[in-house]
Amino acid sequence: MSVKVTIVGTGYVGLTTAVCLADLGHDVVAVDVNAEKIARLSAGDPVIHETGLKRLLVANLASGRLTFSNQMSDAVRRADLVMIAVGTPPQADGHVDLTFVEEAADDIAPHLAGFTVVCVKSTVPAGTNRRVGELIAYANPRADFALLSNPEFLREGRAIEEFMNPERVVLGAEDPRALAVGRAVYEPLTKRGRPLLTTSIESAEVAKYAANTFLAARLALLNEFADICEQVGGDIEEVVGVLSADSRIGPHFLEPGPGFGGSCFPKDVGAVAYLCEGLGDAGGLIRTILPSNARRQQRLARRILEVCAVEPRQLRIGALGLTFKADTDDVRDSPAIAVIEHLKRAGAHILAYDPAGMANARQAVTAIDFAGDAYEAAAGAHAVVVLTEWQEFRALDLAKLRAAASGPDLFDFRNVLDRQAVERAGFILHRTGAASPSRRHDRVAVAAQPRSRQRSRARS
Ligand code: UDX
Repeated sequence: MSVKVTIVGTGYVGLTTAVCLADLGHDVVAVDVNAEKIARLSAGDPVIHETGLKRLLVANLASGRLTFSNQMSDAVRRADLVMIAVGTPPQADGHVDLTFVEEAADDIAPHLAGFTVVCVKSTVPAGTNRRVGELIAYANPRADFALLSNPEFLREGRAIEEFMNPERVVLGAEDPRALAVGRAVYEPLTKRGRPLLTTSIESAEVAKYAANTFLAARLALLNEFADICEQVGGDIEEVVGVLSADSRIGPHFLEPGPGFGGSCFPKDVGAVAYLCEGLGDAGGLIRTILPSNARRQQRLARRILEVCAVEPRQLRIGALGLTFKADTDDVRDSPAIAVIEHLKRAGAHILAYDPAGMANARQAVTAIDFAGDAYEAAAGAHAVVVLTEWQEFRALDLAKLRAAASGPDLFDFRNVLDRQAVERAGFILHRTGAASPSRRHDRVAVAAQPRSRQRSRARS
């Protein structure tokens, strides 16, 4: 059954959802106040960098199932389901600003005609869907509507693929009419066996935060063990091998690196930590996740400064990677940039390159220089640092890179390079989660000393 869906907001979530729902056969209108963006989207320009988005956008515009508009009134009047997918920008103290969600509720309210399901797609604290309901009821007491919470779990770079093959669709509702519309929207996926979970509205809201907080905590913990290995010996890759073999832990989402970033994890974990502060002693562990992640980036910068025995203000670093992960142009809360900022504060000079994030990085970072490719970034550098796991970096001509750099140290903070190949090219390789070569034996010896002395004393 084709559902008339109207999506408010054409940001990352709104646009992906609009394009995918149209592709599933629904009749979709996506509304945004930004007229220039509407014009570009209507002309088939996806505006953001997302794998497969352009193809689906163009195909569904052509089919007539997808249109873009800046006319809220018509778009809402026709809809069976209105999805609010506007931004929820984080504030300095961690709480999310719900102004755009509330404004969307006010804008929708007067135009609701006939029974309509209203759904908040944006990630929001528990209680927000009900607040949207209250705002609509206040602005339009005659409106006939029901609430649905339908959080998304999409990863940037894989959003289309994950939307079409979700591990679960979550529908939070208490009105059976809302649930029926939600089920109809996702029927093309559930028919193919994709699981659909129904919960209360609040559980759906909390589940989204819980999922991201679990994943972020997993990475923070993993990177704390990477830190430990860097200091006492051991290799995090071998440790991960052991962890992954335990089915309770599982093999996924266990890549050590410079920490997590992006538009979701830092924002969502910060929002939960903020929420916990208002709940007495709740969330003791949750509140430590962001500080742990930030310390990781600080320690990696310190590692570079310690290894390169060059006065920091003379130090030249070739930085490879600026985006928060590969296959995106997004630099929001990028751990790569956090490491660069620490180096910069120490006085180092940074020459950086990224395959897709240069334009955004130019807006986000000041006082660094940008290179046209990896070799140019390495030119004259005391050390080269890999900060994002781009495929392009795995295929580097390492001899050419070594010839460009002035110093022999190569820090692979994503463990993407082949160890032997790097060493053959004449670099000294410093991997994430493993002690630096020159230090490994000293460190292990130092770490082992007090314990073995104590033991021998106890025995004597
Ligand atoms: C995340 C969630 O995965 C998604 O479900 C949610 O809806 C939005 O937030 P996204 O931010 O696109 O998605 O990226 P993701 O691939 O999850 O990576 C987040 C961060 O963790 C990145 O900085 C990435 O480099 C890092 N990461 C991820 C690791 O360091 N190691 C890993 O094993 C996985």
